[in-house]
Amino acid sequence: MKNVRALMLAQYGGPDAVSISTLDAPLAGAGQVLVRVRAAGVNGLDWKVREGYVRDAFPLQLPAVLGIELAGIVEAVGPGVSRLREGDRVMGALGSLGAYAELVAVSEENLSLVPEALSFVEAAALPVASVAAWQSLHFAGPIHAGQRILVQGAAGGLGGFAVQFAHQAGAVVFATALESHFDYVHSLGADHVIDYQQGRFEEAIKDIDLVLDYVGGDVLDRSWAVLAENGAIVSTASPAIQASTPAGRRGLWFMNKPDAERLRLIADEVARGSLQSRIDAVVSFDDLPAAIDRNRTRPQIGKTVVDFSL
Ligand SMILES: NC(=O)c1ccc[n+]([C@@H]2O[C@H](COP(=O)([O-])OP(=O)(O)OC[C@H]3O[C@@H](n4cnc5c(N)ncnc54)[C@H](OP(=O)(O)O)[C@@H]3O)[C@@H](O)[C@H]2O)c1
Repeated sequence: MKNVRALMLAQYGGPDAVSISTLDAPLAGAGQVLVRVRAAGVNGLDWKVREGYVRDAFPLQLPAVLGIELAGIVEAVGPGVSRLREGDRVMGALGSLGAYAELVAVSEENLSLVPEALSFVEAAALPVASVAAWQSLHFAGPIHAGQRILVQGAAGGLGGFAVQFAHQAGAVVFATALESHFDYVHSLGADHVIDYQQGRFEEAIKDIDLVLDYVGGDVLDRSWAVLAENGAIVSTASPAIQASTPAGRRGLWFMNKPDAERLRLIADEVARGSLQSRIDAVVSFDDLPAAIDRNRTRPQIGKTVVDFSL
């Protein structure tokens, strides 16, 4: 029975490589629940997968459904599911592709309950960015008060959360962003915000213990200059860090993993108002191909979310 709309990638390429198609409805397998998707988060990974940039890290059999995080309602449960029930409001990262579809079979262990105070759109903005920010912040070792942390790309999805987590831990937080985003990044708890378009950040910052590189490329290459002797750079944006780390320095490539318990804790904080989650744009499913491309070409604050009810 062909009755589920999904955003499919037919072959690697530009905006025209994706289209909305109709698929057979999936079934919930062992340990899985079937989620009626109400909203899904847009990520930089979408266009990187579309263009084939990450085909080694994510080998795909095409055509494939794009999308890596979602929020919705449990419509059915598969064998062996013990925690979730039909009707539960859930959110989560898939740990693989396939979220841009009306019905998705998801491993129960990747899903958390959505706090009552959050809408599906608010919930769908959280699984990847917030958990990746948390995990990447703690990836190189424990964080402590007074540590000097630089967040590259602080106005983005990961950056917004990382600035807040680092500030909550008592770190001295340095951040790069466009000048038009300064107020926002300061409001997250950044102590020093540097406009990356006006001058070079490495002339304004030094002795950094931890750089979180959410931008990559030239920004990563120039970040070595600001690092304290025993400091580390963790990059979510450039796998090349593994090969390009200078001798004697510490550079780590980070890949996020779904963590339903961490997501639940973060979502509770967002629901209580002690953590900001910024949504830049809410788009319809029909606008999703264009929204994925805007993520590539236009600087944004926070997340773009597709609302399946629009
Ligand atoms: N490895 C993993 O597990 C993993 C997981 C999630 C995401 N990622 C990757 O991590 C990166 C960040 O993801 P995201 O979702 O946060 O992306 P995003 O929301 O698009 O944010 C990127 C931010 O970078 C800023 N920026 C652009 N050029 C800059 C520069 N030269 N200097 C400083 N900031 C600059 C922009 O802020 P302004 O508006 O201020 O310019 C933009 O908001 C992406 O490459 C994404 O693919 C990796």
